[in-house]
Amino acid sequence: MNELDQFPGWAEKFYDLYFGPYLPNTEAAQARVEQGLPRLLKHLPKKGSRVLDLCCGAGVYLFDVEKAGFAMTGVDIQAKMIGAAQRRAAKIGSRARIAVGDAMDLKFGDASFDAVLFLGAATGHFSVQHLRRVMSEAYRVLKPGGVLVAEINDHVALFLSGMYQRILYEPSGEKDVFSLHTNYDGEKGTFNRLFVDLDKNRRFKGSFQIWAPWIFNHIMDEVGFEFKASEAGAFGNFSRFLIHRKLSKRTRK
Ligand SMILES: C[S@@+](CC[C@H](N)C(=O)[O-])C[C@H]1O[C@@H](n2cnc3c(N)ncnc32)[C@H](O)[C@@H]1O
Repeated sequence: MNELDQFPGWAEKFYDLYFGPYLPNTEAAQARVEQGLPRLLKHLPKKGSRVLDLCCGAGVYLFDVEKAGFAMTGVDIQAKMIGAAQRRAAKIGSRARIAVGDAMDLKFGDASFDAVLFLGAATGHFSVQHLRRVMSEAYRVLKPGGVLVAEINDHVALFLSGMYQRILYEPSGEKDVFSLHTNYDGEKGTFNRLFVDLDKNRRFKGSFQIWAPWIFNHIMDEVGFEFKASEAGAFGNFSRFLIHRKLSKRTRK
């Protein structure tokens, strides 16, 4: 996975434990889509356009965006998430192309898509350097003028609001999920979370990158995107949708 991970294999345990918002048929995921879909759709190009759901996970948005009339492709690095998305696709008769892939090294040709989605705070998995690689790939596979809709967590807003909690209780489906935030690394901009899985009687650590819209927007600017709009995200109180458009010529290197 990404070099950010100091704890190999944690992501699979994390999504196994904290599946609530990431599996399309859970209440938490449906609430995300109900809120987020109308905000997202108004920025997408005309129906029938080709849309890449980058880091699609189990496809929380993918199938609803398809239902709204778009030709969908989904890519995620985790075979387990992609397996869940493919099973759902088969069940509902989706025509989406869904495959395992690395967002930093996409196997699609240049200018293959009209829009790219990057949703659900996937940014937390990527260092600044790695996100630049991901967004360079998104730039490459988008047609000129193509749109990228990202949904990121604004950690700085969370910290400044005073609502940040070092010990977090976030029930996920029937599961009680606790995590303790530790080891802030100011050089890298990361923090670790220690998760306690009471069902399986295990604990594990994961490493997350801290993000804020202005850092994301700066990377997009460097890669060659133009900032278009920002609105409230649907991934908790501190998420934002950031909408960018691919300029036909890179303005910066
Ligand atoms: C927070 S989840 C969001 C999933 C989905 N977009 C959603 O909104 O529910 C982040 C996803 O990024 C995926 N991911 C992390 N690194 C990746 C990479 N290098 N390439 C592709 N997917 C990656 C993880 O496997 C995970 O499914």
